[in-house]
Amino acid sequence: MKKQLAVFASGTGTNFDAIARACADGVLDAEVAVMVCDKPGAAVIEKAARYGVDTFVFSPKSYPSKAAFETEIVKILDAKKIDLVCLAGYMRIVGETLLNAYEGRIINIHPALLPAFKGAHAVEDAVAYGVKVYGITIHWVNADLDGGKIIAQRAFEYDGNDPAEVHRLGQPIEHQLYVETIAKLIKS
Ligand code: GAR
Repeated sequence: MKKQLAVFASGTGTNFDAIARACADGVLDAEVAVMVCDKPGAAVIEKAARYGVDTFVFSPKSYPSKAAFETEIVKILDAKKIDLVCLAGYMRIVGETLLNAYEGRIINIHPALLPAFKGAHAVEDAVAYGVKVYGITIHWVNADLDGGKIIAQRAFEYDGNDPAEVHRLGQPIEHQLYVETIAKLIKS
């Protein structure tokens, strides 16, 4: 039985695309069973449709609390027997409802070399600081924002001050590292 993945995203979904393609091509012995998105209208939704991946798209504002929408999410993950949850640009802090059910099975990709530059503006913060070595981190998700145990990191050099260029350089590294890391985790 192929491992069942859930990918959570809020935006463009290039990481979702890389993971879904690796599953479709047999590079990953896994299937994206569901794509969860908290931004109706995000480009990732169209990408999921192209791969025929089921989606759960929701608007947090239409729920009374984080616990309420995470309860819905947990029901879906349970029903689909998800082995691993991959946060891929999901710009929302995971709450205790989801953590209580899935901690130890949730990973995140972050566009900086943690523990430096936590948070939602990591690349912009790193550029403002003037670092010369940038990087990507994949880590376990726990209650400490961007503070869970590190699984993998990859660095690259950039000597400039354009966050868009850092994103451009980091993207292919993210895609490759995420697929490689998922491959290792689902084997072990
Ligand atoms: C990625 O660069 C990812 O590292 C970042 O969001 C982007 C999503 O891109 N995640 C975070 O900043 C999490 N704090 P994508 O939608 O093209 O995959």
